[in-house]
Amino acid sequence: MCRIGIFYGSNTGNTREVAEAIASGVIAAGGTAEIKNVAKAFPEELLKYDGLALGSSTWGDGKFQRDFDFFHEMMDGLDLRGKKAIPFGSCDPLYEQFGKAVDMIDSRLKELGAETIASPVKIIRTPGEADKKNCYEIGKQLANEVIKQESPAI
Ligand SMILES: Cc1cc2nc3c(=O)[nH]c(=O)nc-3n(C[C@H](O)[C@H](O)[C@H](O)COP(=O)(O)O)c2cc1C
Repeated sequence: MCRIGIFYGSNTGNTREVAEAIASGVIAAGGTAEIKNVAKAFPEELLKYDGLALGSSTWGDGKFQRDFDFFHEMMDGLDLRGKKAIPFGSCDPLYEQFGKAVDMIDSRLKELGAETIASPVKIIRTPGEADKKNCYEIGKQLANEVIKQESPAI
């Protein structure tokens, strides 16, 4: 099974669009993708997936998006060992703390034992076609890594 959970926090929909592009890549690689808004999810749900993509936009000088902030606090103590993961989020280089939330997700995933398979994915404001294609490829890569882990070549 290659079940990928894509959890995001977004104020104006940009990070949600990134989540959707990642999901389309997961599906293209033969996995299943569930997209969850963290405003309506519990961190324990992370445990039921084989791979994870966690996303938050950055607000207020380097902070998590507000729903993700609550979600992240409740992630304390989760055991994410054995899970492949990617951090992502929309952000804006006009701000000094460019994409800080994405970097914080990266650290958090590693701290809880997940293996991040790509550099933090920082998309500038609303994703354009090239960004969506890039996120699609990253989604495919995530699914392929999970599939490879589950059926290693003999
Ligand atoms: C008041 C305000 C503060 C922001 N602070 C940051 C910041 O510190 N770093 C950053 O990279 N982007 C910052 N941004 C940009 C947002 O992250 C960006 O608009 C993003 O596309 C919002 O994504 P969302 O629709 O998924 O919430 C800020 C935007 C606003 C309006």
